[in-house]
Amino acid sequence: MKGVILAGGTGSRLYPLTRVTNKHLLPVYDRPMIFYPIETLVEGGIRDILLVTGGQSAGDFLRLLGNGKDFGLKHINYTYQEGEGGIADALRLAEYFVDAEPVCVVLGDNIIEGNIRKVCDAFRSNPSGAHILLKQVPDPQRFGVPVLDGNKVVRIEEKPAEPASPYAVTGIYFYDPSVFDRIRTLKPSARGELEITDVNNSYIRDGKLGYSILDGWWTDAGTFESLLRANNLVAESQARRLDKGVSAGPECARAER
Ligand code: DAU
Repeated sequence: MKGVILAGGTGSRLYPLTRVTNKHLLPVYDRPMIFYPIETLVEGGIRDILLVTGGQSAGDFLRLLGNGKDFGLKHINYTYQEGEGGIADALRLAEYFVDAEPVCVVLGDNIIEGNIRKVCDAFRSNPSGAHILLKQVPDPQRFGVPVLDGNKVVRIEEKPAEPASPYAVTGIYFYDPSVFDRIRTLKPSARGELEITDVNNSYIRDGKLGYSILDGWWTDAGTFESLLRANNLVAESQARRLDKGVSAGPECARAER
């Protein structure tokens, strides 16, 4: 299974922090934000990774990450999104890389406490349709929100004023290779973007979307509030791990203490 990290966009909700750099290069506690989605994929057993980025700081990703040695990787693939046409527009650029394989897509500003090993293994052994991860949140109106009928997702609404459930669709998605044909059918939304929610709704219409509830905490980091929360959650998790004498993340990817 291939892995794709989407780290394009302008990060305008974080201006002026993002005026001269890419959002995903900002610090989250002791590491740049982009380290976390890479770890999510690597810990899920995915080693063939494409990073989609954009804007004026694209070269800084190469300087920071190189070939991924800090994560035990031999190679990282990179591609460049012109403008910010949306999450599905960024994913479109991964078609040549993903080819006919299943893919796990992680948004570059999504950080998780646990790991996605089990769901990766499950999708790898039955790579058909799509699989999303949900998490109960206090502010679902900020996210894609599933409309549930019993335990079935019947529709996903993007940033609804009145959320139909207390869940957010997290930015970790598993797709079969039909995802690229589905993206080709999309029209830009009211905010002028190709929406990942429309991709997921296309799988729902075909009865091909599964979901699980993500264990452990989850947060995005694309607003001042969520960036602060991400910093605090990571700091607390690391303190807990250090208390237990467990090292947190790849040794060479963090400062000595
Ligand atoms: O975090 C989960 C949420 O992410 C989902 O619940 C929503 O359904 C989904 O639409 C998305 O919502 P946001 O409005 O928070 O997405 P945002 O525009 O902040 O983009 C998230 C990441 O996607 C960003 O860190 C980089 C990548 N991205 C985004 C855009 C618009 C790109 O690579 N290219 C883009 O053009």
